[in-house]
Amino acid sequence: MTNDLLISRGEPQRNRIGVFDSGVGGLTVLRELYRQLPNESILYFADTARLPYGTRSAREILQFCFEILSWMVQQDVKMVVLACNTSDALALETLRGEFNIPILGLILPGSRAAVQQGRRIGVIATPATAASNAYRRALLEIDATAQVWQVGCPEFVPLVEQNRLHDPYTQEVALQYLMPLLQQRIDTLVYGCTHYPHLAPILRQILPPHVKLVDPAEHVVAAAAQELDLLGLKNTLPPLPTRFCVSGCPEEFAKLSVQWLGCTPVVEKTYLPAVSYSPSPEGVRG
Ligand code: DGL
Repeated sequence: MTNDLLISRGEPQRNRIGVFDSGVGGLTVLRELYRQLPNESILYFADTARLPYGTRSAREILQFCFEILSWMVQQDVKMVVLACNTSDALALETLRGEFNIPILGLILPGSRAAVQQGRRIGVIATPATAASNAYRRALLEIDATAQVWQVGCPEFVPLVEQNRLHDPYTQEVALQYLMPLLQQRIDTLVYGCTHYPHLAPILRQILPPHVKLVDPAEHVVAAAAQELDLLGLKNTLPPLPTRFCVSGCPEEFAKLSVQWLGCTPVVEKTYLPAVSYSPSPEGVRG
């Protein structure tokens, strides 16, 4: 902690990038950060005490994001990546008006990549993201000739968080969710929730081989790299170890994540500040 504070004063490029999700979904974004930006230090927060986010109201999501970003700003992050599509769909624009740091979401970079892959685009997402139409809007704004079908998949996040990745029931559920998209003969499928790439082996088995899978994680990290360059905030020195923080049980998170991280992470229990969201009169804080 003391180290982090010292670093933030003199060399902002050495500060961490804040990454958050409701749970282990954001690890798919973290994986891309390690791959594309190996020098960056990361603060990963998982709001495991309150997952899933995808069946919550816009008001709740905005309040949760507001608490998380207020805390991340206190931790001196130099940028925040919303590794949660639901938060992007329901809160990104408001957060950008409230906090004076770069905040990146998955939906725009993911949509840009998808329209380059195909014309008949399926999006699997949480019920909240699907109902928000955020992907449809973004995709059609970029290419009005694309055709888009979105499916809300309420059972996927609980199944991933319960580590039921190889359960035959998960396979049945996946088939049900993908069926309407297969009937529309999609040529491209977007992971509209960061938990879903963890289900790639199951989804790949069901999808015809010509259907391209788009993982927005890859593209939001490319956008983050560009933004860091532009702002002169890219770190060139060796990174600090990733700090993992959760609102729920640290041991449970550590046990579940080990399969994707390749080692058991040290996880801190974190109490977010009790701040309630109301639009700030001046617009920007932080
Ligand atoms: N992984 C997040 C998303 O991309 C949140 C999923 C959830 O908690 O429902 O939407």
